[in-house]
Amino acid sequence: MPAIVIVGAQWGDEGKGKATDQLGNRVDYVVKFNGGNNAGHTVVVGGDKYALHLLPSGILTPAVTPVIGNGVVVDLAVLFDEVDGLEARGVDTSRLVLSANAHLIAPYNCVLDKVTERFLGSRRIGTTGRGIGPTYADKMNRVGIRVQDLFDEKILLQKVEGALELKNQVLTKVYNRRMVDPGEVVDELLGFVDRVRPMVADTSLLLERALDAGQTVLLEGGQATLLDVDHGTYPFVTSSSATTGGACTGSGIAPTRIDRVVAILKAYTTRVGEGPFPTELHDAAGEHLRKTGWEYGTTTGRPRRCGWFDAVIGRYAARVNGVTDFVLTKLDVLTGLERVPVCVGYDVGGVRHDEMPMTQTDFHHATPIYEHLPGWWEDISGVRSFDDLPANAQAYVRTVEGMIGARISVVGVGPDRDESVVLHDLI
Ligand code: IMP
Repeated sequence: MPAIVIVGAQWGDEGKGKATDQLGNRVDYVVKFNGGNNAGHTVVVGGDKYALHLLPSGILTPAVTPVIGNGVVVDLAVLFDEVDGLEARGVDTSRLVLSANAHLIAPYNCVLDKVTERFLGSRRIGTTGRGIGPTYADKMNRVGIRVQDLFDEKILLQKVEGALELKNQVLTKVYNRRMVDPGEVVDELLGFVDRVRPMVADTSLLLERALDAGQTVLLEGGQATLLDVDHGTYPFVTSSSATTGGACTGSGIAPTRIDRVVAILKAYTTRVGEGPFPTELHDAAGEHLRKTGWEYGTTTGRPRRCGWFDAVIGRYAARVNGVTDFVLTKLDVLTGLERVPVCVGYDVGGVRHDEMPMTQTDFHHATPIYEHLPGWWEDISGVRSFDDLPANAQAYVRTVEGMIGARISVVGVGPDRDESVVLHDLI
């Protein structure tokens, strides 16, 4: 039985939560493998809206075991806030499993995230301010705190003291902030230990055994391809591996066990935070996409930057992730346009690029080359079969599919769980 990866193809917020949730009835495990509470999944179930930041969206499906993998960074206060919020709405969260190797977002890393952004001024990344970058930096610097450290008080104190040795110098001398007391941090973290203990497992082993037993494992990527620390628009990226490779390192599942890679691709493009975005619209058309698509950040509430569909990005996502199936989301948002522009390549200083430019400088200077496809006016939210879509909507899907190097298997026509047109089953 398969391991299936789901990733975002653009800059995030493509609708992964809904896709994961739709598959929820047919999978046994949903694993979050990267990121932390910078993610924002909105899932609508029977008219009820759930905004999840840290928990895997499988938490809403009773038969699924949700897993937070080793590649995730966990803010325990946020984790239990989210758990308590769901429990209060009648959602059972007792199945949640947490990797012993996941890193913890210590309170000082949230402080550092915010003060660093302020310090960077015009060079800021536009982070979510949740401590994600500093926590991954600690992991790579080998001064991170892991979930398992909670079970050894002596080691925990040693590690927090070690991490703070340099950070306190930086906080006080560079940023003029108050010193952090290691004992206070340890007390705060240990305050969670009794609730954490029953959730913790060797999740790599758990998932290997599940696959051996014929169960289906869905690996859910946070953020997206162009926010990946290696393959994204660096430095305007998140600090984790949001592509298929990250699914392996962030879960402990080997690449040879992965059968299917599903990339979620919005029928237009959005981005939050700073960084290059060739098809961005600064006019009424951009405002129209933002209003119609309700493009405001789930985590931060920030208005998202909006632009037309970019096939160069679609092709790139297909390549670096090994995409087998695309889910094209929010096609309904394009309803009512006379002509729908699609970016088919870039002009960089008079030279045409059909693939992502090799350098950041070229990507910053990329001007989109558009093809204009005929629009449609009919309300498509009730459509459930591809043949019932207006001819021009069908043509839009087929034309885009021809440009991005993998088949489009599902088309989203509205926010609710069942508002989709399925061309090929994903499982
Ligand atoms: P960080 O992940 O908070 O470090 O932020 C780094 C960049 O990734 C910023 O541009 C964020 O806006 C962006 N980002 C992080 N998480 C998400 C997400 O779930 N959706 C979209 N953008 C995100």
